[in-house]
Amino acid sequence: MSSVRIGIIGCGGISGHHLESLSALKDADFQVTAYCDVNAEAAEARRKEFGSGGEPVFTDYVKLLESGLVDAVLISTPHPAHPDAAVAAFEHGIHVVCEKPVAVTVRDALRINEAQEKSGCVYTVHLQRRHMPKYRWIKEQIDAGLIGRVHKVNATWTDWYRSQTYYNSGTWRGTWNGEGGGVLMNQCPHDLDLFTWWLGLPESVDARIWLGHFHDVEIEDEIVANLTFEGGGIGILNASTCDAPGVTRWEILGENGGISISGDTVTAFSREKSLSDYTKNTDEMWAAPPVVPIEVNIPETVNVAGAQVKCAAGTQAMWLDFLAAIRGEKQIYMDGREGVKSIELANAIIASGYLGSPVELPLDAGVYDGVLADLRAGKTGCAIVNK
Ligand SMILES: NC(=O)c1ccc[n+]([C@@H]2O[C@H](COP(=O)([O-])OP(=O)(O)OC[C@H]3O[C@@H](n4cnc5c(N)ncnc54)[C@H](O)[C@@H]3O)[C@@H](O)[C@H]2O)c1
Repeated sequence: MSSVRIGIIGCGGISGHHLESLSALKDADFQVTAYCDVNAEAAEARRKEFGSGGEPVFTDYVKLLESGLVDAVLISTPHPAHPDAAVAAFEHGIHVVCEKPVAVTVRDALRINEAQEKSGCVYTVHLQRRHMPKYRWIKEQIDAGLIGRVHKVNATWTDWYRSQTYYNSGTWRGTWNGEGGGVLMNQCPHDLDLFTWWLGLPESVDARIWLGHFHDVEIEDEIVANLTFEGGGIGILNASTCDAPGVTRWEILGENGGISISGDTVTAFSREKSLSDYTKNTDEMWAAPPVVPIEVNIPETVNVAGAQVKCAAGTQAMWLDFLAAIRGEKQIYMDGREGVKSIELANAIIASGYLGSPVELPLDAGVYDGVLADLRAGKTGCAIVNK
């Protein structure tokens, strides 16, 4: 196959990170052949910075898709625009890297999946932690049975502090219409994706959400959610853009062992006996079940299409994987269709907080459409409003 021709749709902040990552892939066979942004100046600025100067600039992505100039696109517009752009790209037989979140509702994420399945094109989503060695190591341990049935998950994702100036930096930010959500839709999709990748979806969610708790915004900038897992395990999620310094902490405890993450540090252990077996059968009155520390040996590189790639940020590995999948050299590592899972958990937390009651998963798409329509209309339901 000849060089893969890539178009950029949405030439704002994150497009610069992609273009820098692509520039670093000296040996990969691709070209960036077109830039598109509703703001022509933004597209021209990216072309000037990263292009040769001859690439066309579009202000309408449909024209770019019809131009015959691209085989693949990066969709890096604000998230509510992702589904229509991705569906249109697949209808034109064009491969897609979509920024996270792929949509703000499960219904829209499934619309993209359906269009991709009809097209047979390659689809991935820039949930780049899936390409980072640490998170892949944890996934491998969990898949190998280290946790087993989940007993308890405590996750605190507050290392996402944002100032009011950040929210004021784009009219779409901090609004239900422009962003379709707050900390769950913009900052925490990475954490929510790891959660669902490692543990699957919980059975039910009972959440409180705060709208504009410490910012002048419409959306949820703080949440606390209680979770129930199949098999009886329970969990608490805590996410915020209000705390500084914030933390990233996970404790995942199961029948067979546990994993903790605190910032960059990962620890893990297995058990000699399953927790239930020990609890039911031990003769000891006060002892705790013995655990065996596991050596945490995270490689520095990830394997992409046969090459060992050293990339702490994950974006380069994502592009190499995507380009190799387009050439038919491998299956895509992060199938974009999985992008729906973190959205389902986010939608469930927002729905529960708004309705003031627990919600079961899978979440009824119609219920969430109603919740989002209410929030977009300025209703706040049972959410906590700090005004
Ligand atoms: N994966 C990550 O780590 C990561 C990091 C930052 C942002 N993002 C995601 O990237 C997306 C963009 O974020 P950003 O920070 O670059 O935003 P931004 O506001 O800086 O840029 C968005 C650009 O899209 C353009 N745009 C809007 N509607 C368009 C349309 N219909 N067609 C073409 N262009 C359009 C805007 O004019 C703007 O230039 C968001 O969905 C965000 O969640 C992901």
